[in-house]
Amino acid sequence: MKSIMFYNSKGGSGKTTLAVNLAAYYAKAGIPTTIVDLDPQQSSMQWLDARPMSKPKVSGTKKFNKLVKRAKNAVVIYDLPAAIYGNKLTSYIKKANIVVVPVLPSPIDMKAAKEFIQSLRAMGSVIRNRVQIGLVANRCRAHTNIFLELDSYLLKEKGIKYVTAFRDNTNYLKSARSGLGIFEMGEAMTAQDREEWKPLIRWLGIK
Ligand SMILES: Nc1ncnc2c1ncn2[C@@H]1O[C@H](COP(=O)(O)OP(=O)(O)O)[C@@H](O)[C@H]1O
Ligand SMILES: [Mg+2]
Repeated sequence: MKSIMFYNSKGGSGKTTLAVNLAAYYAKAGIPTTIVDLDPQQSSMQWLDARPMSKPKVSGTKKFNKLVKRAKNAVVIYDLPAAIYGNKLTSYIKKANIVVVPVLPSPIDMKAAKEFIQSLRAMGSVIRNRVQIGLVANRCRAHTNIFLELDSYLLKEKGIKYVTAFRDNTNYLKSARSGLGIFEMGEAMTAQDREEWKPLIRWLGIK
């Protein structure tokens, strides 16, 4: 079983957006997929509510400890709220094999991401060695200076993988409204998004 957690201490960085899109991708690939929505705002659950019955099933729960029996190839995706720190964050991170940190290309967001990475490193070697951390830049407008700054900042962080960058684009608003993922929308319309997803999907692997 693979356990993937989306976290950033800042709200609005794209945790939910990426969590639900990844869930849709795995479900479409025939993998039993569950979203654990730990955010009181319940945005992932709202996406699930909007999801058409005809689409591959994504299970959802609000309970952190609910899942007991899971298939070997199952994927569990945790959508965390912002501003979780200390013991609570540690107890969440303990459940993860992989933590994906979406970062917006702004100085404030980069600083927050840096602090979060430092707090992960302070959690002790057991967690540090067991959990892989991947950063993804989100809502980028390519070729702006701030994007280049984020790019070089992310590349400098040792032991942290800079996986991919997602553009700012309205397909994600459509995804949120319709309960669909990028990979379930028109191919021509989402061609660039699919390219941007490839490195993350490859890095996460399927098993
Ligand atoms: N790559 C993107 N392009 C356009 N809009 C995005 C993108 N990523 C996220 N958004 C939008 O930004 C807002 C915040 O994203 P969300 O995933 O809810 O963040 P978080 O869960 O970290 O608080 C939402 O309205 C979402 O639709
Ligand atoms: Mg959210």
